[in-house]
Amino acid sequence: MSPYAHITGWGMAIPDRVLTNAELAQMVDTTDEWIVSRTGIRERRIAEDDQTTASLATEAALNAISVANLSPMDIDLIIVATSSPEHLFPATACLVQNSIGATKAGAFDLLAACTGFIYALNMASQAIATGSAKTAVVIGSETLSRLIDWQDRSTCILFGDGAGAFVLQASEEPAGLLSAVMRSDGSGADLLSLPAGGSALPTSIDTVNEGLHFISMSGREVYRFATRVMTQATEEAVKKAGLKITDIDLVVPHQANQRIIETALKNLKIPLERCVINLDRYGNTSTASIPIAACEALQDGKIRPGDRLVFVGFGSGLTWGAAVVQWSGPFPTRIRMIPGIIRFYARVRSLLLRLLRFFDSFFWDRFYNND
Ligand code: COA
Repeated sequence: MSPYAHITGWGMAIPDRVLTNAELAQMVDTTDEWIVSRTGIRERRIAEDDQTTASLATEAALNAISVANLSPMDIDLIIVATSSPEHLFPATACLVQNSIGATKAGAFDLLAACTGFIYALNMASQAIATGSAKTAVVIGSETLSRLIDWQDRSTCILFGDGAGAFVLQASEEPAGLLSAVMRSDGSGADLLSLPAGGSALPTSIDTVNEGLHFISMSGREVYRFATRVMTQATEEAVKKAGLKITDIDLVVPHQANQRIIETALKNLKIPLERCVINLDRYGNTSTASIPIAACEALQDGKIRPGDRLVFVGFGSGLTWGAAVVQWSGPFPTRIRMIPGIIRFYARVRSLLLRLLRFFDSFFWDRFYNND
């Protein structure tokens, strides 16, 4: 029997800086009333200059590892789902691996835009089910504020920064991830994109002058697509898990737009009380929105062990997907991990590795390299 991937730790990281709709109305031609009535968003968080996608991801991961009472050395796999990676390469996940001192972990980024966290959850669960990993950390992290044209009122009102993380652990007990669906339709690739900066359109003075390094979106078409696929993906994932919609205790949807969520819930005949919505305070944090919403629901006591949850999302690609999870909580352990201590250990370890590399190349050049 394949092991199940239980969610045993969770954490989030949110920048302190709040940007309200009233502040945005001083930057572009919009109003608080327009933004709230069309999206439900009232404010969002913006990363400070010294905060990056990797640093937010690290903080969220450390919080999640601490809830699971694990050591970073227990982690076999780190997946960072992000639409705003630290660099094209190296992977943001490798920077997180170094910051937390996960000495045994493989690490890679996953790009499926706002659906990325669901894809990553499924990939990590598959690694656990096949036995290739026993413990995985899945992170959604974003600094989208750096990819936004702050003069474009159709996009700058929507997005925010933040990170959320889950720890997944193998267990023979049937719970954890029960099913997942992942879908894509690249024919809609142009509806939501970051046109320049990749190999198709490398950054140049022209791309910068034309603003092609900013997020570009056809809002109305994305809206129509989103309401349709949120409903379909939820129905498919619930059916695949052998459950009915009435068996679901809580839906944790991608936090893009209140109206999209309400339409999907209405189609699914799920009452609003059985759904987590926090986009009014954070806006759309892309891959981070589902784990942040789940963390807040846990803090509020809305998720208990044994509950059956649906995570459902959509995004650029186009991509969409859903996952059904039976909640477990931390496995019993005797150790107590403190994020500050893990971070300190990881810094010392990283420094020693750099020193070692320095001495290695120093001696190599002196004694072995005859060129
Ligand atoms: N403030 C005031 N007016 C605005 C505005 C703003 N921030 N943004 C657009 N408008 C204007 C438009 O210019 C347009 O004016 P016009 O009729 O004179 O041309 C009018 O409002 C209607 O624009 P439209 O784009 O049709 O609005 P909408 O009701 O579709 O709402 C979105 C726009 C972006 C809020 C909505 O389409 C949406 O949420 N789409 C999904 C986007 C999303 O979730 N993206 C992320 C996916 S992961």
